[in-house]
Amino acid sequence: MPEIIPVTTTRRDFLKSTGTLAAATSLAGMTIPFVHAAENNTIQVALVGCGGRGTGAASNALSVKNGPIKLVAMGDVFDYRLKSSYEGLSGEYKEKVDVPDDRKFIGFDAYKHAMDALRPGDVVILATPPAFRWVHFTYAIEKGLNVFMEKPVTVDGPTSRRMLELGAKSVLKNLKVGVGLMCRHCRIRQELFTRIQDGQIGDIVALRCYRMHGPVGSAFSNKKPDNMNSELLWQISRFHSFLWASGGCFSDFYIHNIDESCWMKNAWPVEAQASGGRSNRGEAVDQNFDNYNVEYTFADGSKLFHYGRTMGGCHDQFASYAHGSKGLAVISSESHAPAKSRIYKGQKQDNANVLWRAPKDEPDPYQLEWEDLIDAIRNDKPYNEVKRGVEASLVASMGRMAAHTGQIITWDEIMNSTHEFAPGLDQLTMDSVAPIRADANGRYPVPLPGINKHREYA
Ligand SMILES: NC(=O)c1ccc[n+]([C@@H]2O[C@H](COP(=O)([O-])OP(=O)(O)OC[C@H]3O[C@@H](n4cnc5c(N)ncnc54)[C@H](O)[C@@H]3O)[C@@H](O)[C@H]2O)c1
Repeated sequence: MPEIIPVTTTRRDFLKSTGTLAAATSLAGMTIPFVHAAENNTIQVALVGCGGRGTGAASNALSVKNGPIKLVAMGDVFDYRLKSSYEGLSGEYKEKVDVPDDRKFIGFDAYKHAMDALRPGDVVILATPPAFRWVHFTYAIEKGLNVFMEKPVTVDGPTSRRMLELGAKSVLKNLKVGVGLMCRHCRIRQELFTRIQDGQIGDIVALRCYRMHGPVGSAFSNKKPDNMNSELLWQISRFHSFLWASGGCFSDFYIHNIDESCWMKNAWPVEAQASGGRSNRGEAVDQNFDNYNVEYTFADGSKLFHYGRTMGGCHDQFASYAHGSKGLAVISSESHAPAKSRIYKGQKQDNANVLWRAPKDEPDPYQLEWEDLIDAIRNDKPYNEVKRGVEASLVASMGRMAAHTGQIITWDEIMNSTHEFAPGLDQLTMDSVAPIRADANGRYPVPLPGINKHREYA
């Protein structure tokens, strides 16, 4: 491991002397940390992907109270999305939003211009569809930027391997990188994790998690409207519908519950078998199944059962549970927050058997993940969630591939898979051909379990 030189200068001093340090350390074969020292200087933020979550993440960033922070640049592929994000943020955060028109960028190279507006040690938010994560992260590392990137961080095996390499590079550069699996920052779940590791429910023998609700996001798409000229931009705007862009509703929606369950087990599963299908699709032409059932197996033989359904008119459930040899833990109860975690004696959710329950007022995990990231940046604490984020994304892909192919998929198989859904995303322009094409009826290729056994779609 290269030696990391501790930062003892102030942030301003550090920025002034980075060139000198870089020369000295490269000669010595050492790595310089591009971090903010613990000083109250302004951290500048750029937002790449100005949609719902990007705007939410920027809002969380601007709400962190431990020092001055400003949004200074924004990038998107759609100007209307950037405009509405800017209007919302500048209306709410006033002088903390300093994004004049010449720091608003539109297009597939917008991310470069937005990051060029930052200095090493500032923060870029990557909140586009996950397919672009490796492209944008590559440039962030080159620029010495700290990063907040939304989940999932990969959608297939090849990009997972690439992101693991990039993650290792960012660790060597001492970049602080947060991944938007915010439930990991929930203080209540953290306490539950400690209690479970302390043996309060005994050995975990099974976990189960549910994300079942009606159609949300862009998981269902009808045929591309005639007035939408660009097939590529159509697919990007409906990214939950396309496996290349998001890993589909499976990766995008289910990763949180799968991840928090694996966290409590303190392990990743070694294989998955799964089923799923399309039944209530109406005129939808996208690539998703509307129900998925996955059995994940851990190395010790214990199981995680995941139930995913995107279908109206059915029972809704959005929760995760861990069953131990002595008791039951509710990991989360309804959506992501509040978690309302509990521990019961025995396997029944019976009030008489509650051994521990979360206090009523739970802090917002979306805000906590930013408090933690900015604290790590200002105080130079080790902080890099990329490896864990890739592993969680890979476990999601493993379950999805098992359902889509009808085969048992092991960790090694998904990790070494050669099917990159959308190669060359770093070369995209507005005129590029979309990574997937519709047939003459406007329908996109759907998974055919048992028929396409080695790829999720032909
Ligand atoms: N942690 C959470 O709970 C949570 C919640 C919602 C979304 N997310 C994640 O955030 C990401 C974005 O989701 P969203 O709901 O905000 O979607 P969204 O469609 O609202 O926003 C995505 C934005 O990225 C822009 N974009 C697409 N490709 C781009 C590119 N190459 N360069 C620049 N901009 C580009 C789009 O135009 C859009 O404005 C996804 O990865 C999603 O899984 C996480």
